[in-house]
Amino acid sequence: RSIRPLVAGNWKMNGLKADLAIATEVARGYDAALKAAVDLAICPPATLLFPASAALIGSRIATGGQDCSVQPSGAFTGEVSAAMLADAGAAFCIVGHSERRTLHGEGNATVRAKAEAARKALLVPIICVGETREEREAGKALAVVRKQLKGSVPEGLDAASLVIAYEPVWAIGTGLTPTADDVAEMHASIRWDLARIVGKAAAAGVRLLYGGSVKPSNAAELMNVANVDGALVGGASLKAEEFLAIARACA
Ligand code: G3H
Repeated sequence: RSIRPLVAGNWKMNGLKADLAIATEVARGYDAALKAAVDLAICPPATLLFPASAALIGSRIATGGQDCSVQPSGAFTGEVSAAMLADAGAAFCIVGHSERRTLHGEGNATVRAKAEAARKALLVPIICVGETREEREAGKALAVVRKQLKGSVPEGLDAASLVIAYEPVWAIGTGLTPTADDVAEMHASIRWDLARIVGKAAAAGVRLLYGGSVKPSNAAELMNVANVDGALVGGASLKAEEFLAIARACA
């Protein structure tokens, strides 16, 4: 691999204090061989970001937020700023996850503003894109994702300051996954489109994660697809052994 892969766990709205044990178990299993081959990140709920970051000090496992405000601070009740996430130990922030786009009405402009807010706080945004089942069946998947990228990815970022996660909406939490050929086609298209936004050199080094029902049983096949540089893992990231098995499939 020319790009060091990243496996990020998105705990979504799961996890109480006791579940920090999952993070420490992942840290215990992140052995020298894995450390040499793959980066890991855990994105717990905001309430656990500080203790998870503290528990992972010395493990070389990063943490990340799942969303951030477009605003830097102020009278925005209930919002969490990117600077607060960074202050709690985060290195990454997921933005534009399909659950935010669908359930919270976040459009591309908002996602882009969140990615910019994350960068200002020196977080690396993990910008999510992906088509619905209807869009794929209508043959529009590549065009839909192209439009999301154009609208959501800030210009001028370098390879280390940006991660893209391709998550077909219909594959999230469903047990369904696209074929390796479909993932290959989409990831090649994403890298091509990114070159128009951040420039060819940066685009060549940006990590493109696949997300959507990644499990130990399908990870190796998905991670061996060209232009797949890691995974954004939902459900399976809540089980340390499964998350580590997926990491091993990337190594
Ligand atoms: O952010 C993670 C994705 O939405 C994938 O979730 O692995 O449970 O399908 P999943």
